[in-house]
Amino acid sequence: MKKKIDITHLQMGMYVAELDRPWLESPFMFQGFVIEDEDVFKSVNELCDYVVIDTEKGNDIDPSIEHVPSSSAVVIDFKTRKRIPTTTSFQQELKQARIVHKRARNQLDSMFNDVRMGKNLDVSGAKEVVSGMVDSIVRNPDAQLWLSNLRKRDEYTAIHSLNVCIFALTFARYLGFTTEEMNELGVGALLHDIGKMRVPLEILNKEGKLTDEERTIVREHAQHGYDILKNSPGLPASTIEVVYTHHERKKGTGYPRGLVESQIHLFSRMVAIVDVYDAITSDRVYHHGMNTLDALKNMFKWRENDLDSELVESFIQCLGIYPIGSLVELNTGEVGIVLSVSQGRKLLPIVMLVCDKDKKVVTPPRILDLSKFTNEKTDDVIEIRKVLETNSYGIDLFEYIKHEVLF
Ligand SMILES: [Fe+2]
Repeated sequence: MKKKIDITHLQMGMYVAELDRPWLESPFMFQGFVIEDEDVFKSVNELCDYVVIDTEKGNDIDPSIEHVPSSSAVVIDFKTRKRIPTTTSFQQELKQARIVHKRARNQLDSMFNDVRMGKNLDVSGAKEVVSGMVDSIVRNPDAQLWLSNLRKRDEYTAIHSLNVCIFALTFARYLGFTTEEMNELGVGALLHDIGKMRVPLEILNKEGKLTDEERTIVREHAQHGYDILKNSPGLPASTIEVVYTHHERKKGTGYPRGLVESQIHLFSRMVAIVDVYDAITSDRVYHHGMNTLDALKNMFKWRENDLDSELVESFIQCLGIYPIGSLVELNTGEVGIVLSVSQGRKLLPIVMLVCDKDKKVVTPPRILDLSKFTNEKTDDVIEIRKVLETNSYGIDLFEYIKHEVLF
């Protein structure tokens, strides 16, 4: 049986019977093939918005993808979503984005401090932070995504909250949310861990494994968050939902209430995904952050039991397999940091070259747009060979990102 599927639902083992364009305009030699190779999978993803699969010759679509949870507060038709065009270049946006980001950091620090001291949450301050973030991300999300890599081990909760907000808004933009919906989601994302302000710092920042008792105390942050916000006037109901349910998991294994997917608000399912992504890619006192590709591969696995499958797949599509800030080695042997990714050219991003082919540091770093560049001597395309572990060759991402002079 032939089925037309959105490209976000394409999986290994499917038989691609038709593309959304003539075969002659594609790089594929055969008209109809089973996807058995990661490179072919990537290429089809890169090229097409939809394909037709033949379920008699290959795998069928995952039936859970067609399941739409009943509690979706915002109904999004993923198939008809409109891509929002960027209105500023990465470099233009970065200037403004740094101001927005810094202001957001300061405001967030003071908001969190207030709550830690037992004062009321500054709701209008939170909305103001989000509104600045939404404007920047609507213009061009790449600058805030770049700044999301400005993280240090010891300032975790505030930075993590800001990053979850950035990723959630970027994801929402990709899914075609309106700016009103983005503003609403953003407040929930920014405040999702507000309950951690009632968890002792010595437990939050503990080096090494938590005891069972300590883990229970940390897990109480979802309930604390609910208690802190339930009487805050001016907050949308969805914010309280996100704070209360961002650790619930689709098969009922999450906390605090063990809800199942159909009971979890769409915003919470989105925040759960970006929360996990930021947590596993961050360096913490007790672990080194995973590289971006391993993080996405793990999340793809966790979509089976924990996270919303369709949303995980869309999130991977949204970031691309080389998310901004990824440390990558090119086929020339040079090492770079992914700066900016254009839709449709995700395998050929703009990179900042930081090491030459002998892995010696390049000063100042050079900017290279892989989508435009070919190796002049051999006429070969310069492309990414692999994703490197964070901090490979002593490269400290933080140092590059904080430098404003590089652009
Ligand atoms: Fe949390």
